Amino acid sequence: MIITSAYKEKIIERAGLALRQGKLVIFPTETVYGIGAAAKNSNAVAKLYEVKNRPSFNPLIVHCANQEMAFKLVKVTKLAKKLSDAFWPGPMSLVLTCLENSPVCPLARAGLDSIALRIPANPICKQLLEVAGIPIVAPSANLSGELSPTDVKHLKNEIVKHCAEVIDAGRCSKGIESTIVDARNEIPVILRPGPITEEDIKTQINMQCFHSNQSQLDSPISPGQLASHYAPSAKLRLNATQKKQGEVFIGFNSPNADFNLTETGDLLESAANLFDMLHMADKQNPVRIAVAPIPNDGIGEAINERLARAAAPRDNLIKNPEEYKT
Ligand code: TXA
Ligand code: MG
Repeated sequence: MIITSAYKEKIIERAGLALRQGKLVIFPTETVYGIGAAAKNSNAVAKLYEVKNRPSFNPLIVHCANQEMAFKLVKVTKLAKKLSDAFWPGPMSLVLTCLENSPVCPLARAGLDSIALRIPANPICKQLLEVAGIPIVAPSANLSGELSPTDVKHLKNEIVKHCAEVIDAGRCSKGIESTIVDARNEIPVILRPGPITEEDIKTQINMQCFHSNQSQLDSPISPGQLASHYAPSAKLRLNATQKKQGEVFIGFNSPNADFNLTETGDLLESAANLFDMLHMADKQNPVRIAVAPIPNDGIGEAINERLARAAAPRDNLIKNPEEYKT
């Protein structure tokens, strides 16, 4: 059920309380649905890793209601201030050095001395974070390695059954996970491309970015960026111009597509449709999912990054999650 104003306040109150009590809650953001837990509560965070089958070397993003709450947790750099003033609330996560007395439990940080911080723009999410009043860690609400949910219909019962509340606010407007930027130094380093693009950073704050592989930093790559990720069950064939036998074809303004990411060549619309169409294509149990070439401009870079991971060989997925449980 999509929440209407009559129920909204009540559900958000209940969900905020559940989070404070160490329970798990699924909630919408403008990027994808997240599964949240109190960042300071190591039992709740351990449960979150377990429910997702997430390797414990993969740190979580800390979601805050506002800049003040977020910046209490980290060493704030000039660059972080600039980026956050320009892009928060919004789909950007900033990696910063964690303060020693930070309440974020070490498990949530996977033992790192840094934290990724995010202030989402989705109004329901914002309200929930305000009501909860504490930092909330929230990975995407899918099993580790699988496609992110951009609608509650994508949620699996294996995850939902462990949650105190699921807040349904319809489809996520951006449809692709936040851009992750390392803001610990003077130049922004993009660790994961997302809805806020390099061009947006250039236009709005007049700064050029590094990409993680250009960076000279110690640990430039987001630990969660395993080669195979965001994967449907079916294999993918990328840059396909037409459909082969047994395939489902996801097009980009293509006349012969089973699902068209866009019919006008709009990349923002394509990003918002991407995971939903991969979910729908996968449901048909095809031999393969063929996907048309996507221009690499703007958010197209993030779309192509997700597709490359979805198409990557699966043998680097964690085969035995037990090994990584804490
Ligand atoms: O849009 C989003 O970011 C969504 C919504 C729910 O907010 N969340 C999300 O979380 O995509 P998750 O857990 O699926 O992806 C988090 C990514 C992982 O690749 C992880 O390695 C990276 O963030 N990350 C977290 N903390 C980090 C840190 N301290 N340094 C570098 N990367 C970090
Ligand atoms: Mg994820």
